Amino acid sequence: MSKSVELARLIQSRAGDAPPEYGLILGSGLGHLAGRVDGVAIPYDDLPGFPHAGVSGHVPQLVIGQLEGRRVAVFGGRSHYYESGRPDAMRLPLEVLAALGCDRLILTNAAGSLREDMPPGSLMLLSDHIAFAGTNPLIGEKTDARFVPMTQAHDPGLRAALTAAADAEGVALPQGVYGWFSGPSFETPAEIRAAQVLGMDAVGMSTVPEIILARFLGLRCAAISVITNMGAGLSDENISHDHTKEMAPLGAAKLEKLLRRMLRDGA
Ligand code: HPA
Repeated sequence: MSKSVELARLIQSRAGDAPPEYGLILGSGLGHLAGRVDGVAIPYDDLPGFPHAGVSGHVPQLVIGQLEGRRVAVFGGRSHYYESGRPDAMRLPLEVLAALGCDRLILTNAAGSLREDMPPGSLMLLSDHIAFAGTNPLIGEKTDARFVPMTQAHDPGLRAALTAAADAEGVALPQGVYGWFSGPSFETPAEIRAAQVLGMDAVGMSTVPEIILARFLGLRCAAISVITNMGAGLSDENISHDHTKEMAPLGAAKLEKLLRRMLRDGA
């Protein structure tokens, strides 16, 4: 039995067999949503091979249960490329999600904005991304399945459902291109200017490897950034991880409203 199937069985023995309709991965400072799920929390430590998400602002546990009447699997912590140098650090959790029978994934992250019309506290729905970190979580994968098409990586149906939910809640949800930087250092002002020229609207240190892996596994994906700061050099505010965690709750309240609405209205 593969490791992911073994872990899926273990999870099912604690949380029940019904497949989650949605997987949710929560970004820095956005973990409180996991506490809103009526279900079972399984610490990553109980799931051998799951990353020890070592970044403050993340709670390393998988919560499976009901949110707005839908069965969800919420990953409270993610592992970032910069923690290990491994872009495929989230492969096992995503394989487990697929093995549980889930086929939709919503990702959230904290990000820096490159657009004046998206100040801190805004949300941005990813229309597309640029894997600027220059690596790929499928390097080393041996099968031809590695040649994953990325044309519709950000699923039009899920994006439409999120946009409809945002409209219904009166939450502004501009769409934009997310640029993946490796981190953990933040960008320089020159890098941010270059990112603007390249067509990025926001920058961050996560999400893109997970989307590539999720597409590889056949999951439909959509991702939302919570803007915690302007990109380096675009404002006078200081940029730090503490600032990210402080600012994330500003957007997190809107994010929760719109995710709940989407789950209620269905997609
Ligand atoms: N850059 C990269 N990652 C981030 C930022 C940023 O400005 N803000 C929050 N995460």
